[in-house]
Amino acid sequence: MSTTLQYVRQGQAGPVFLFVHGFPLNHDQWQSQISEFAKTHRVIAPDLRGLGTTPLRPGQTKLTTEDHADELIALLDSLQIREPIIFAGLSMGGYIAWQMVRKYPERLRALILCNTRVVNDTSEQAAARFQLAEKTLQTRSPQAILDVMLPKLLPPVVNPAIVDAVKQMAHQATPEGLYANLHALATRPNVTSMLPGIQIPSLVISSEFDTISSPAEMGQWAATMPKAKFVSLPGVGHITSMEAPQLFNQVVRENAPW
Ligand code: MLT
Repeated sequence: MSTTLQYVRQGQAGPVFLFVHGFPLNHDQWQSQISEFAKTHRVIAPDLRGLGTTPLRPGQTKLTTEDHADELIALLDSLQIREPIIFAGLSMGGYIAWQMVRKYPERLRALILCNTRVVNDTSEQAAARFQLAEKTLQTRSPQAILDVMLPKLLPPVVNPAIVDAVKQMAHQATPEGLYANLHALATRPNVTSMLPGIQIPSLVISSEFDTISSPAEMGQWAATMPKAKFVSLPGVGHITSMEAPQLFNQVVRENAPW
């Protein structure tokens, strides 16, 4: 598969570190990590298909988390990166990590699973996502998504610059791209049964005020992964990489399984 995923790349030497963002975000959510880890790693941070500056493929209307994993492998292939990589995924980025583990385990050296889940949507949650997707297309705006998701993505008291950055990222995507990605979220599989078999060294990062992927839920599934270390960041909401960048980077430096 040829690739047209847009990405930023920084760092000249060291292992390859791939940062995969959540929904409805893009690589900007990793700005602090890109500059920090480029000191010691070759960092790649793509905009997933349909989000940020990466358009959908011609004729494409829906995506799955497996499609995203295939796209990331195509990107690595196009960059001639064959060595196993460190994969950091936040939320939807984590949902994609599970598909990388399922299809391409030999391409993974370590996993950093941030603020993510292993269960699929309930039928009510999936139905709400499909409704939101329709509304996004009809109104040609991410506003309905922001209305529903901002209170879940960010805690009530947060730096207004982060709220603005999240809104800006949502507005960079096209309505069609948002629609296709809501489909990916709503159709993602339950991967619970995979976890005890994952032999890839993993760091699982959760946070106290995350209402999408609570620390209790994340701690429970992390305990079923034979090679996972679990950390919960105090006083932080869902988008840990943006809300507490220094703490996030420190936790990765101190605990990352490389
Ligand atoms: C994300 O941050 O990627 C999404 O909030 C995930 C979700 O809604 O399940």
